[in-house]
Amino acid sequence: MSGARLYMQHQLTRKNFHNRLLEPCIPPPTSSCRVADVACGTGVWSLELSEEVGPVGIEGLDISLKDVPSAEFTPAHVSFHQFDLLQELPAEMTGRFDIVNIQFVMLFIKDSNFSSALHRLLQMLKPGGWLQWTDSNSANLKWPSGTPGKVAVQMPKLFSLTKELWGQSKSQWIAEIGHRFSDAGLEEVKVLKPSPQPSTLVSTQLQSLWGLEDGFQYLRGKLPADAIRRWDDQYALAVAETQELKLGFDMSLVRAVGRKPL
Ligand SMILES: C[S@@+](CC[C@H](N)C(=O)[O-])C[C@H]1O[C@@H](n2cnc3c(N)ncnc32)[C@H](O)[C@@H]1O
Repeated sequence: MSGARLYMQHQLTRKNFHNRLLEPCIPPPTSSCRVADVACGTGVWSLELSEEVGPVGIEGLDISLKDVPSAEFTPAHVSFHQFDLLQELPAEMTGRFDIVNIQFVMLFIKDSNFSSALHRLLQMLKPGGWLQWTDSNSANLKWPSGTPGKVAVQMPKLFSLTKELWGQSKSQWIAEIGHRFSDAGLEEVKVLKPSPQPSTLVSTQLQSLWGLEDGFQYLRGKLPADAIRRWDDQYALAVAETQELKLGFDMSLVRAVGRKPL
């Protein structure tokens, strides 16, 4: 079921970037181009790009292919492959792509491995190729209230508790991604931080509650009973608050784009 949530997150994100799968500074791919979608999840970005650009070779890459569609639902020029961004790059992946897209990888890209992941993404590009990275800045989340005079209290608490129990290491890189792109040698770097479209706010909040619940399933077997009870109680409070205040969620989207030098 996590694929359904990822699909929803993708559509909400797309809407907040004015429906653009690729920023307009990136030349639209032609039939001689090759595009990678790293950590592709459901493969929806690859499939939608294919609908827009026609017969362009698009490769969806992910450590797990459990959420990608079967070949019956996949156009001939789109393919999905098992790939681990945290392992050394296979030789055939070096300099293979004109465009590399990556989005929503906060769960496995930390400050400790960001530089090596970025280096690998650059290695995948041909000279002059474009990298586009879209993520959420988890240090800058906001829950706009649909009820004047009332502010969200339980949702921030749920996020803090989840971080605490997860023992998550820091992902400061997202706040610095433009500089990190430039430092890595990318040119024509742009960073976009769109304000969320009002029509997306409530669905984004519901999607986020679903994501927290989904993510917490992995922890249930590993945590003591009192920690699980604390989280379940806080989750119930956050759901009640969401309904009572008609909360929205601004996930603080960030998209960085840069070009590998020729
Ligand atoms: C939150 S999902 C995002 C999926 C997709 N990019 C999207 O926007 O819907 C994160 C994805 O990263 C993948 N992933 C986790 N670790 C990875 C790794 N080391 N290398 C490649 N993909 C990885 C997961 O399998 C999952 O599909």
